[in-house]
Amino acid sequence: MAYENEISKRKTFAIISHPDAGKTTLTEKFLLFGGQIQTAGAVKSNKITKTAASDFMEIEKQRGISVATSVMTFPYKGKWVNILDTPGHKDFAEDTYRTLTAVDSVILVIDCVKGVEEQTERLMEVCRMRKTPVIVFINKMDRDGKDPYELLEEVEEKLNIKVHPMSWPINGGRDFKGVYLLADQSLNLFESSKTKKADDVIAIQGLDDERLDKMLNERDSAKLREDAELVDGVYGALNKQDYLDADVAPVFFGSALNNFGVQELLDTFVELAPNPLARPTNARDVAPEEAKFTGFVFKIHANLDPRHRDRIAFLRVCSGRFERGKPYSHTRLEKNFKFANPYLFLADSKEVMDNAYPGDVVGLYDTGNFKIGDTLTEGEKLQFKGIPSFSPEIFKELINLDPMKSKQLEKGIQQLTDEGLASLFIQEPGSRKFVGTVGELQFEVLQYRLEHEYGAKCRFEPRAIHKACWMSGPAADLADFMKYRSNNIAYDKDQNPVFLAETAFILRMAQEKYESIVFHTTSEFKVEG
Ligand code: G4P
Repeated sequence: MAYENEISKRKTFAIISHPDAGKTTLTEKFLLFGGQIQTAGAVKSNKITKTAASDFMEIEKQRGISVATSVMTFPYKGKWVNILDTPGHKDFAEDTYRTLTAVDSVILVIDCVKGVEEQTERLMEVCRMRKTPVIVFINKMDRDGKDPYELLEEVEEKLNIKVHPMSWPINGGRDFKGVYLLADQSLNLFESSKTKKADDVIAIQGLDDERLDKMLNERDSAKLREDAELVDGVYGALNKQDYLDADVAPVFFGSALNNFGVQELLDTFVELAPNPLARPTNARDVAPEEAKFTGFVFKIHANLDPRHRDRIAFLRVCSGRFERGKPYSHTRLEKNFKFANPYLFLADSKEVMDNAYPGDVVGLYDTGNFKIGDTLTEGEKLQFKGIPSFSPEIFKELINLDPMKSKQLEKGIQQLTDEGLASLFIQEPGSRKFVGTVGELQFEVLQYRLEHEYGAKCRFEPRAIHKACWMSGPAADLADFMKYRSNNIAYDKDQNPVFLAETAFILRMAQEKYESIVFHTTSEFKVEG
């Protein structure tokens, strides 16, 4: 119970969106409101416009100098807000999934012109699986977009979550006048400005207030009264528990670029969003209030200076207090480690820290001891769960082009896949290496980094593999299946056998023949249910 005060201040979340919906802009505006940056344009977009490895590396290099952009921390209204950044490029979606394991809630940005897009649907699936509370921000209201009712319906249908509008827009596009805040019965009138820091929110006495007619024209005030009454009648007051249970998503309308509607979003977020939550391990659930420290690594960021192969492992503190210089047990390696210079990330810098609390993210210098999902404790043997690998979409075989550099290639591919850049499946005998990714860009990045950082030349040859499936079932049946399909069995990073099914048809046939075996497309099927 020693750290309850600290825990109750922490709000750790991620902003997620389909590329271009406005995630970077919104993040920046949050930092502006949090007083962390003074001007817009300070947050570098991690968007990759051209899908070339060199572009990616260039961006990563810039970001690598200040890996701080991976986590941004700032105090706001007595709370301590931790924003975890997620990659903008769809080929790096798995990185985003993993980051979602380290947050307690998310803000989902939707472009009002485009509505719910493909990547948003996928990201929401992960949130749903983990029951992560979601607040929706419908952005770009200064542009002619879809009708708000239509947008809400689309969110409910495509994202499979009930919505609860917190504000209601008055027109949209060139005619956008602002929003009506339903709970406060206030008007927030729109003014196009990229620099202003606060909205002029006007408290009115409900929809009957005559000032409404003065501030809006007759048509707009009549339409607002009609809409707001309807919306209020349908939704009523927000039940906070429904949001915390991830059954209902509060929805705001605004324009991040114009700093409009951002303040009310942030204020509601710090009020509503959950504090650090308990997290499952292979032994028991760990509550944040527990006195002893625990945490897990959810991201590893390479140091892009090729002369140093050290990396930064991002650790989410789950319980107790993390202290600089104190030895902690790395449960997978069964070894103790001390960290002389752990980092805390501020908006645009990183600082050596002495203590961190549940919800915080600590940057640890790593010389190759960490893999994604690794757990640190004060000695208890437990391993955090819920950081599954997902079946990749594209599979290729790694071909060594320089036999003199086999060792370097071996080491390189192990380390880069430990970072989570791609999934590695090794087949024995012969040590054939199949690499799986979500997108083509990752292969280019792997090839580039293997050559530039490890001096190893390689090629990736496409392999017709539909899915990587982890398996569960009676041991005898599994052994029989693995013998029968030995050409298609490989082992993942944790030495679990995986069936590399060539086609959906072959997978179906295998399932029919071996009814007792369940084929899973994520490595943690128990969590998936
Ligand atoms: P992302 O991180 O989700 O990929 O999106 P990002 O914030 O980079 O925004 C994508 C584009 O949308 C940017 O324009 C940004 O200025 C614009 N944008 C963000 N919020 C709003 C908004 O409320 N209204 C309007 N009209 N546009 C918005 P860009 O031209 O791609 O980049 P830039 O040259 O403006 O930086």
